[in-house]
Amino acid sequence: MLCHLNDSMEDPNLLVGSSTSDDAAVYRLNDETALVQTVDYFTPVVDDPYTFGQITAANALSDIYAMGAKPLLALNIIGFPVKLLSLDVLVEILRGGADKVKEAGAIVVGGHSIEDQEPKYGLAVTGIAHPDHIITNATARPGDALILTKPLGTGIINTAIKGKMADSAASNAAVNLMTALNDRAARVMVDLGAAACTDVTGFGLVGHLYEMLAASGVGGRMFLPEIPVLDQVRPLAELGMAPGGAYRNLEFLAEWLRWDADIKDIDRLILADPQTSGGLLIAVSADRAEEMVSSLQEAGVAGALIGQIIESDQPLIHVEK
Ligand code: CO
Ligand code: CO
Ligand code: CO
Repeated sequence: MLCHLNDSMEDPNLLVGSSTSDDAAVYRLNDETALVQTVDYFTPVVDDPYTFGQITAANALSDIYAMGAKPLLALNIIGFPVKLLSLDVLVEILRGGADKVKEAGAIVVGGHSIEDQEPKYGLAVTGIAHPDHIITNATARPGDALILTKPLGTGIINTAIKGKMADSAASNAAVNLMTALNDRAARVMVDLGAAACTDVTGFGLVGHLYEMLAASGVGGRMFLPEIPVLDQVRPLAELGMAPGGAYRNLEFLAEWLRWDADIKDIDRLILADPQTSGGLLIAVSADRAEEMVSSLQEAGVAGALIGQIIESDQPLIHVEK
């Protein structure tokens, strides 16, 4: 996710800047190659440092995949309380990150650390793509189908883990999802010519869909029963485990959301649940949607058809029962 700094330099080679809230910046080097650049970092989302490193790297790499690009290089960003925690913890975080970057076929080439009150870890990732084959969040078209490649609910499960309310099945499911790279999903999406893409992270499914709709000048509809959610998420949400971010996302997006009348608050919170290292949200022409879902599933990715892009002069999201 990019902050809204201005792109006032107006360099024609800057193909994607910060004005469309896209996942990464894209800069054309020549007719064959564009540079894709992103950075992301977190405070720990899980107790195990190795797992935390893996999740952070999978999440940072995801912004490269969401552009249809290939990651090449990563730099570590580290804040660490050297006086409070053993350096072994830091070593494990970095090992988790390095293993994930390696799995992605990229290389960690350095980084920088500072002393900090609590651990923070992130990566700046550089990737490449063909300048004509970049998949932005600003090119969804009315009629496109919407596909989501990971189930929702990691924010709720992470909150439950912190509250000691999640069983091991729930936490394992969340960890498996958060450490999973979006590499295969991105490959299928590029091969089958996706129209637009973003990844689902802190703003939740509705927040990142809103960004795509606003950047593309369209509206959207989603079909609640088709949206995949991790097992255990509904019962945990009913126990009050939805994180503050889910409420804030709903509040922030209220004027753009149109819910069918009998959709429960729990379901609204799940659709706004901040995801850590979530899946790709892909817009693809309707006639290729089924092929994309089956190709994703053949690649071991839980792709699901969850909605549709519609014509609209406002980025409204209709959620239907
Ligand atoms: Co990001
Ligand atoms: Co985003
Ligand atoms: Co992103």
